[in-house]
Amino acid sequence: MDATDRCVVETLTLRASGIEIESAEPREYTARMVEDSDAAPIRRITLHDMTADDIKAVRRIESLAYENAWPARTFEEELANAFAHYRVAVEHQPEEHGAIAAIRRKISGPNERILGFMGCWYMVDQIHLVTIAVDPEEQGRGVGRRLLLDLFDLARTSELWMGVLEVRVSNTRARRLYEEFGFRLKGTLHQYYKDNNEDAHVMITGNLAEPEAVERLARLRREHHRRFGARFLEAPANEMVP
Ligand SMILES: CC(C)(COP(=O)(O)OP(=O)(O)OC[C@H]1O[C@@H](n2cnc3c(N)ncnc32)[C@H](O)[C@@H]1OP(=O)(O)O)[C@@H](O)C(=O)NCCC(=O)NCCS
Repeated sequence: MDATDRCVVETLTLRASGIEIESAEPREYTARMVEDSDAAPIRRITLHDMTADDIKAVRRIESLAYENAWPARTFEEELANAFAHYRVAVEHQPEEHGAIAAIRRKISGPNERILGFMGCWYMVDQIHLVTIAVDPEEQGRGVGRRLLLDLFDLARTSELWMGVLEVRVSNTRARRLYEEFGFRLKGTLHQYYKDNNEDAHVMITGNLAEPEAVERLARLRREHHRRFGARFLEAPANEMVP
């Protein structure tokens, strides 16, 4: 394991979680995830294209994350839309061995759980982030950032050099995150959200092919790898860490 993280935690908690203390200041330690036979195996996360089988779990997350969850039919239509692309972040439970584990897998299917998802549209010359949500229990642990990195990977492989999105004016957490990824306020759509007549901020990126944008994404990718790399399996080719 090479991921490091600064933690303010008790020694016992660290040891119990399979984390080894490298150096210690009073109540502050630099911790390193270790894989040893006594520690609980780490559950890894991968990203893949959303399928119809994922809709139930995705809708559960959506209804927890949003006041107005989309009906299943909307997701079905989106999956059938050639200009839309939906991705899910899936956590895989550690592989269990033995006959009982094999029977359990056969009965209840693969041991995986969807933690978050995002959907985008391929427009003429831009990629449009349509939706993104992470299970509230999993928020703040790098899944949202990883989905955004994936969005920019899709933009690059599709040669779409601008990103665009709408976000509720009140959603300061998401707006801050988008700003980190280079989205800037372009304008306001008044009473865009019909449930409460809230305004939307339209945010766009600059040219994603410009060196500044390329460097920002490389930095965000490095930071993500450093902070959360232990949780995420090396992913498809276009998700390489520079
Ligand atoms: C916005 C969202 C997708 C981010 O997903 P996430 O997995 O939490 O994202 P990350 O873990 O990568 O964290 C990104 C940042 O969000 C903030 N954040 C995330 N969870 C937080 C929490 N529970 N409390 C405070 N801030 C939080 C932090 O600033 C974090 O940055 P940091 O890691 O430097 O502290 C998620 O919060 C969400 O699903 N929100 C509800 C749906 C929504 O608003 N979608 C956007 C619609 S436009």
